[in-house]
Amino acid sequence: MAMEDLNLDAYWMPFTAKRYFEAHPERRILARAEGAYYWTEDGHKLYDGLSGLWCCGLGHRHPKIVDAVKKQLDTLDYGTAFQMGHAPAFTLAERIADMAPDGFSKVFFCNSGSEAVDTALKISLAYHRIRGDAARTRLIGREKGYHGVGFAGISVGGMVANRKMYSSSMLAGVDHLPHTHKLEKMAFSRGEPDWGAHLADELIRLVQLHDASTIAAVIVEPMQGSAGVIVPPKGYLKRLRELCTQYGILLIFDEVICGFGRMGAPFAAQHYDVKPDLITFAKGVNNGMVPMGGVIVTDEIYKAFMTGPEHAVEFFHGYTYSGHPLAVAAAHATLDILEEEDIYARANDLSQVLEEAVHGLKGEPNVIDIRNCRLAAAVEFAPIEGRPGYRALRVFEEGLKRGVLFRFTGDIIAMGPPMISTPDEITRMADVLADAIRAAG
Ligand SMILES: Cc1ncc(COP(=O)(O)O)c(C=O)c1O
Repeated sequence: MAMEDLNLDAYWMPFTAKRYFEAHPERRILARAEGAYYWTEDGHKLYDGLSGLWCCGLGHRHPKIVDAVKKQLDTLDYGTAFQMGHAPAFTLAERIADMAPDGFSKVFFCNSGSEAVDTALKISLAYHRIRGDAARTRLIGREKGYHGVGFAGISVGGMVANRKMYSSSMLAGVDHLPHTHKLEKMAFSRGEPDWGAHLADELIRLVQLHDASTIAAVIVEPMQGSAGVIVPPKGYLKRLRELCTQYGILLIFDEVICGFGRMGAPFAAQHYDVKPDLITFAKGVNNGMVPMGGVIVTDEIYKAFMTGPEHAVEFFHGYTYSGHPLAVAAAHATLDILEEEDIYARANDLSQVLEEAVHGLKGEPNVIDIRNCRLAAAVEFAPIEGRPGYRALRVFEEGLKRGVLFRFTGDIIAMGPPMISTPDEITRMADVLADAIRAAG
C-alpha cells in the first residue's frame, strides 16, 4: 500500500507519541523483515538494533521457526488449555525447566511478559498462604523496574509515567528497593559497575520497617532493560539472594528480556550464578513469533500447591491461550536453534564487539554515559533543557535515516542487536549511532 493512502488515524498505538508519529511517519511503517533487517513501506532497509522489542534475537522469519508454525497449523490450531493438554506443551515445559538452573522443574505458560509477572506474583502469594504463612503479602519491586503494564506489574514496577495515573488503584502493600542508576558513581562502566552492591541492603531497611513475616517476594529484572539497560552492580544480585534466603522471602527474576540467550546463557540466573525462586520469561522463548510467556518455578514451590483432593484444581489461574499450539511450536524450534547454532557462544563473542564499539562513542556530543551488559548496551544523553526525551528521539530519527532502528527511552538509546548479527553489523550500528548523535546535535 502506498504510504499516502494509509490512514494512520484509527490505530491507538502502544507506548507511542501518536501525534508526533502521524506527523513524522517516514521510515516508521514496517512492511517486511528477514534476518537482522526490516524493510519499511517507503522502501528503506533498517538494521534491527533491538531485535524487535528484545524478542527476535535469532533474526526475523527464521526458516526453522516459520516451518514449525506452518506445520503446526496443519495438525492442531488451538486446543483448550483447561483440563486438557497437547503433547508438545508438555515436552516444551520439560525442555525449558531443563534449561533453567538446578532445582527448577515446572513451567506455567501464559502469553506475555505482563501475564508472566502477574502469574509469578500470584504464585508467590499463594505459596506462602498454602504453607500457613498467610501474613506474607507484601511485594517488593525496584525503582525504574519494568514488569509490564498489568496492575500488578505497574505496582511493583518503578516507572513513574506508567504509574502516576493509577496511583489509587495499584496493589496495596508494595515497596520498592532503590534503583542502581547513579551516574556519578558508575558512568562509562564496562559491564557490571563496581559501585552499588550495598543498595541490596535496602531490603534490610524494609524488613526492619515491616518485619520479614509480612513480605512475600522481591521481584527484579537482573538487568533493567526497559529503563535503558541498567546493569546490576557487581555482587548486587548475590546479596539480594542472601537476604531473601535469610528472611524467607521469595526472589523472582523477571527474565523477560534476559532469558534465552541475550546474557550469553539460557538465563541471567546462570550468567550471574544467582539462583532465584521463580523466573519469568516471554519474548525470546519463541523469538517473538507468536505471543508467549511463562513462569519457571522450583520443585519446592510447585509441591506446596499439590495438596487437597486429587480431583480439585490446585492453582486457580490460567489463560485461554496458555500453551497455545502455535506458540509452543515456535518455541520448540527456537530452542532447537539455540542449541544447534551455538547461539550462546555467538552472543558472548558479539558482546565483546558490542562493548568495544559502544564505548568508542565516549566523547561524542552530549553523551553522559555508556553502559553494556552482555548483548545489550545503552548510550545516555544530557537532556535538552525543558524538552526531556527529545534529544534521544532526534538521535533515533537520524538513526532511521542512516538505516538503523534504535530504541529510545527517555534520553537513552538502547541496543539489543540480533544474536545472529555479524561483528561488522554491530560495529556499523555503533558508527551509525555516532553519526546520528552528531547530526542530532
Ligand atoms: C522485564 C520485563 N517484564 C515484563 C515485560 C512485559 O512484557 P509484555 O510487553 O510482553 O507484557 C517486559 C517488556 O518489555 C519486560 O522487559
